[in-house]
Amino acid sequence: MKTPDEILQNCKKPEGALGEETILRMNESHAELTAWGISQIEIAKQAVVLDIGCGGGKALGRLSKKAKDGRLYGLDYSETSVEMAKQENREDVEMGKMEIVHGSVSALPFPDGMFDIVTSVESYYFWPDLSHDFREVRRVMKNGAVFAVIAEMYNHEGQSEEDKYIVKTLQMHNNTPEELEDMLKKAGFREVRIELEQNKGWLCAVAVR
Ligand SMILES: C[S@@+](CC[C@H](N)C(=O)[O-])C[C@H]1O[C@@H](n2cnc3c(N)ncnc32)[C@H](O)[C@@H]1O
Repeated sequence: MKTPDEILQNCKKPEGALGEETILRMNESHAELTAWGISQIEIAKQAVVLDIGCGGGKALGRLSKKAKDGRLYGLDYSETSVEMAKQENREDVEMGKMEIVHGSVSALPFPDGMFDIVTSVESYYFWPDLSHDFREVRRVMKNGAVFAVIAEMYNHEGQSEEDKYIVKTLQMHNNTPEELEDMLKKAGFREVRIELEQNKGWLCAVAVR
């Protein structure tokens, strides 16, 4: 039997059978947050979109509905996530509209200036070096492209004890909105807007290259 902490660790990098269970659970539990986060940005029909830390691929499915005539890419450093995201989006993958690749945010396997939109849902907390990794995301974006960092927790006065426990156990980044804005600006984004859904404790940082 797995301990609650072992189950939590699988959110950071889902692996094996427990990883598959975790991904299915996250597909459900992140649905509302993902819909809210994606609604904060405009996505053109022809957009070329990347979702980083794509997990089970539900966000990619939503993004594909917006970018009807676009191209979608998902990336995750967990092989289990990559496989499950491919299954979730089988039709788009088989049609050649979507590609899901194994890799790290710290060394994105894409050329400079490729994307119109980059999203990341519930993943930035685990990235190894935010100042480097935000720059790496910016590198693969076109000028004027938009990066949305979507998160269901951030550091604020009313943060729950449960969230604080999760942050500590998983050694997650737990930034205030101001810190995130500052880091994104220092990474070279020319405009940063922070949207908060305060009743839920959600954050969406929208950064324009
Ligand atoms: C909490 S899950 C969220 C998955 C999905 N976005 C969702 O909302 O359900 C975090 C995901 O980010 C991925 N991840 C964490 N750090 C990463 C990194 N450095 N590079 C790429 N993916 C990463 C994990 O493997 C995992 O699939």
